[in-house]
Amino acid sequence: MLFLYACLFFIGVNARCNTDNCLNAFNNHGGYASYSQFCSSFLATTYTATTSGVGPFPSQCKNLPSKLSSACSCIASTTSATTTSPTVSPDGSTTTITVTATVTGTCSATGFPMTVTTTVSSASPTCSATTLTVTSVSLSTTTTTVTTSTIAQPTCPQIVINGGFEAGILADWTNFNDNPDASFSVVTSALIPGGSRSSFYSAALIFDPLGPFLPGIPADMYQSVLAPQLCSAGQQYLFQMYVKTVANTCYVNAYDNGSGQSFIDILLMPGGTTPPWVEMSIVVTPGTSFELVVEAACDTQDTVWFDDISLTPV
Ligand SMILES: *[C@@H]1O[C@H](CO)[C@@H](O)[C@H](O)[C@H]1NC(C)=O
Repeated sequence: MLFLYACLFFIGVNARCNTDNCLNAFNNHGGYASYSQFCSSFLATTYTATTSGVGPFPSQCKNLPSKLSSACSCIASTTSATTTSPTVSPDGSTTTITVTATVTGTCSATGFPMTVTTTVSSASPTCSATTLTVTSVSLSTTTTTVTTSTIAQPTCPQIVINGGFEAGILADWTNFNDNPDASFSVVTSALIPGGSRSSFYSAALIFDPLGPFLPGIPADMYQSVLAPQLCSAGQQYLFQMYVKTVANTCYVNAYDNGSGQSFIDILLMPGGTTPPWVEMSIVVTPGTSFELVVEAACDTQDTVWFDDISLTPV
């Protein structure tokens, strides 16, 4: 998977920047990273041409304010002039971005899974602990090389909660109560012909034999699926659900009530005395408000079992 990150650099340009021994001395001792504070106050102060004894490197800078001013202009210009937006692929790769001029600015990674910002003004700024890390920055008068690399991206999770019903209760699912004769609960494997599909429990849509029986009226359970802060927009998921019933009069459906997108075309279950678990699956793209609804409608009062409902990123 490829996500694009953009680094923005505000590049200072100054016409009075001369390459000389004074500038070399600054650069040999850390450049902007070491002397940004000195330079910004130096540049904000007025010195006469004869002032001496100011600043570092008196011999290389010949004690001349003009030399210091030039060097500071080279390494710590505050004039925003140009912005470049190189893109880097963060999947563990390392990208070197070379821009010309001195740098004061920010590095930002936008999009998956979050926005991070840092100031590229020290020797090793860090954009983020979870996404993009600037591992080295070297500053010189004409070239700035920023090497970035990423550390592990968070994984995008399966997002249905209690889809195997192994909590032993219907936790996280809610009966919609649209059919007064039927409701969902959780039952043990022993109560299911052929048993649970996995482990001990499955969900069961159970009709009350005392009625009022409403043939063909669906009964629903639902859960709000918290989509996926850790996943990119447009992430696709494999929806899977396993269903069985002894009747051959039941229709089963699943859909996203947020978008109205149906997951499964309504399917007539095969039934039988030891019915198979029927797998229903489809690749879907959940929206942001995502309500997973599971429903069944039967023309007889026969139990319908559900197990192992999941939405797994693909
Ligand atoms: C589906 O959404 C509609 C509209 O918001 C709402 O009235 C209805 O209760 C929802 N159905 C279920 C099963 O949650």
